[in-house]
Parts: sequence; structure tokens; C-alpha cells
Amino acid sequence: MRQTFRQPKSVALITAAILGTLGFLSSPAQAEMDAERGKTLFAERGCVICHSVNNVGSDVATSLDASNMNIAREPFEFFARMWRGAPKMLALQNADLGYQIDFSGQDIADIFAFVQNREIQEGFTEDDLPDHIKEIIDNGPSAAFE
Ligand code: HEC
Repeated sequence: MRQTFRQPKSVALITAAILGTLGFLSSPAQAEMDAERGKTLFAERGCVICHSVNNVGSDVATSLDASNMNIAREPFEFFARMWRGAPKMLALQNADLGYQIDFSGQDIADIFAFVQNREIQEGFTEDDLPDHIKEIIDNGPSAAFE
């Protein structure tokens, strides 16, 4: 069975799938990444509880300032790295957030656009934080960091 996988045909199919996805990401039809909306999501979904942008938010995890984003300019790389924070995010959502951090493809694209966009990041202030998020930052997230 393993043999089947090694066949060039499968490799070609996988390559085609990857190229198809890349084409999809860069095609004009879906290039509606909205950094302004990403800014709102960054605050509302709670990224800001652990990551800062423009010195707003906590420094528990790496700052996601656009100036740091050369390490993750590529969307797949960005989300592969984000996966590392997943256990803490899940603990946090159980303990403090009271709702599941949930994303649509569009949400993810918009957050990615926001972390790349220095100009929009410069407009990110404490005023963008919903009260319940501000509260968690002020109190220090409970269960996530014990
Ligand atoms: C409860 C804390 C917490 C929350 C909330 C959180 N993260 Fe993270 N995140 C982490 C930790 C911990 C890491 C891994 C260590 C590090 O990079 O500091 C990480 C890593 C990342 C990385 C990789 C950074 C790098 O330089 O490798 C990205 C990108 C990221 N998170 C994005 C997000 C986004 C977007 C959100 C909101 C949807 C989010 N995170 C919410 C804790 C969190």
C-alpha cells in the first residue's frame, strides 16, 4: 500500500493540490483580506490577551507587530506557528473567555492581513478592546498560565 503513495502520480496530485491552494489564496476573487476587520477580531477573539500589537495587549507570548512578521510572512507558516499557542488558547477559552475561539476562513485571512499591516496596527489602541477582554488582561488570565 505504501508503494502506491510513492508513485509519481500521487506526488503530482499532491503538488497540484498545494499549487491549487496557493493559487486560491492569491486569486483576486478571494483576496478580500480586510485588515481593519482583522483588527477587531484580534481584540474580540482574545489574541490580544497573550499577544501585543502596537504595545496594546499582554506580553505573555510573542508580539505580533508587523515589524516582527518577517518570520511568518507566509500564511501557512503563520498558522503553523500559531498552532503552538493552541493548548494555552484552549485553556484560556475554558477558564476565562466563556466562549469558544472559533474562526471562519475569512476571519483567519483578516487576522493575517492585520498582523501584516503596519499602518492599521498603528491605529490599534486600548479603545479597541472590549470590556471583558480588558478585564482578563488586567486580572491576568487565570488557568492558562499556572
Ligand atoms: C492564551 C494565550 C494565547 C492566546 C489567546 C493566543 N495565543 Fe498565539 N501563541 C500563544 C503562545 C503561548 C504561543 C507560542 C509561544 C510564542 O510564540 O510566544 C503563540 C504563538 C502564536 C504565533 C506564532 C508566533 C511566532 O513568532 O512563532 C502566532 C502567529 C499566534 N500565536 C497568533 C495568535 C492569534 C492570531 C491569536 C488570536 C486568534 C492568538 N495567537 C491567541 C498564546 C496565545
